[in-house]
Amino acid sequence: MLYKNEAMAKRTKVKAILQSDQKDYKATVKGWVRTFRNNQFLALSDGSTIKTLQVVIDRENTDEAILKQITTGAAVTAEGTIIESQGGGQAVELVADSIVINGLADPEKYPLQPKKHSLEFLREKAHLRFRTNTFGAIFRIRHSVSFAIHQFFHDRGFTYIHSPIITCSDAEGAGEMFQVTTLDVENAPKGEDGNVDYKKDFFGKSAKLTVSGQLQAELGALALSEVYTFGPTFRAENSNTSRHLAEFWMIEPEVAFADLDDNMDLAEDMLKYVIKYCLEHNPDDIEFLESRLANEEKQKPQNERSPLALREKLQFCVDNDFERLTYTEAIKILMNSKPNKKKKFQFVIEEWGADLQSEHERFLVEKHFKKPVILTDYPKDIKAFYMRMNDDDKTVRAMDVLFPGIGEIIGGSQREERLDVLKSRMADFDIPEHEMEWFLDTRRFGTCEHAGFGLGFERLVQFITGMSNIRDVIPFPRYPGSAEF
Ligand code: 4AD
Ligand code: MG
Repeated sequence: MLYKNEAMAKRTKVKAILQSDQKDYKATVKGWVRTFRNNQFLALSDGSTIKTLQVVIDRENTDEAILKQITTGAAVTAEGTIIESQGGGQAVELVADSIVINGLADPEKYPLQPKKHSLEFLREKAHLRFRTNTFGAIFRIRHSVSFAIHQFFHDRGFTYIHSPIITCSDAEGAGEMFQVTTLDVENAPKGEDGNVDYKKDFFGKSAKLTVSGQLQAELGALALSEVYTFGPTFRAENSNTSRHLAEFWMIEPEVAFADLDDNMDLAEDMLKYVIKYCLEHNPDDIEFLESRLANEEKQKPQNERSPLALREKLQFCVDNDFERLTYTEAIKILMNSKPNKKKKFQFVIEEWGADLQSEHERFLVEKHFKKPVILTDYPKDIKAFYMRMNDDDKTVRAMDVLFPGIGEIIGGSQREERLDVLKSRMADFDIPEHEMEWFLDTRRFGTCEHAGFGLGFERLVQFITGMSNIRDVIPFPRYPGSAEF
């Protein structure tokens, strides 16, 4: 292999060494010390795999001063020979001819000794978090999920569209957007009406961070047929839950000449593909997270424990059809359910039209159907303006995919492609037409049936890694009161 970087050419990754059955060859490894036993056995991690490589140091012929510097967290380079391991626990090891300390880690100050730290503690120690087994596994899986998503859409002829991060339209109409401005907020220019004069702002009007790239993706789909976006989205909702972030990533495919059934098929295929990809490509990481989760589950009361281990749960999703039913059918099930009748739900469902809370979604998935569920045809009043109106004039062609332990993982719909109906829906939601002309033009010129959805990237990573808090599956979580690092 040809590398521009000399250092990379001379370095072998731990994963490559452990995967190969070759022995008796020279290698240079670089990484960080996990543990150092008996001034002799160094467990080296370089992040390429959850496993460490045992580096055997010749303690008789190594400077005392150097041996003292081989402490947990230090960066080192070791050169030597890969041989069949003399001890148990590993197939091969590196017998070092030389060891160089690249960066010291003062053992008095380095807080990551080989013991367990709480996830909350690690959230505050950004640099150490990456060095733990748990977060190494999570971020390698996060990479796989991202790669598999691109692969899935690429193989199906989709075009990746980069939707804008700064926008002036509120796609979801939820009014929970972060403002983007260069005005001096303490001293903003005012118009005659006393309100801030956004004509003097950078974009000549009030701009926001996007909550969704869907509307832009629709423009792409109505020319390129199949597109998807994959980018950061921002929501200023004050939800301090284990499933909400203020900055999260969303994947939004949009397909022309497609209806809600096509949309459901695409969503189900994609989720299964990605989960399967991770099972195949990250077996060691998932095995580690499975045992981590099993320990966590032991702390819970018996009736709250998941009946399936992580890999069983993932495999189950891949092997079984998702349950598909309408909102109306789901409401009947929920109204007749024990927790609803006994008022055990925090939000008791009184009638058709009620918005579903995560407790209801999880009841359907975890207790009633015991598998992923796709709910369709929601009441028009609890869904966005762009969803296609059904003939009953009461429901829209919406779909939410609900997952065990997560609740809603995907939200999507068939889109309202009829200009007159779309305009009247916008009027219902008080969305000014003049701001949306660019979007309405798609319905004026060559409109067609089309559909799409949004997958919450972190929620899928959460599902695959079995992590209970969404803040632990993104490298630098942003949530109310916290934008550290
Ligand atoms: O259901 P949502 O709001 O749908 C849309 O934004 C549509 N425009 C998508 C489309 O049809 N193209 O969001 C989609 C998904 C949710 O199902 C959820 O998984 C995730 O985005 N999501 C969040 N994830 C983390 N933190 C938050 N605050 C989230 N809000 C939504
Ligand atoms: Mg939704």
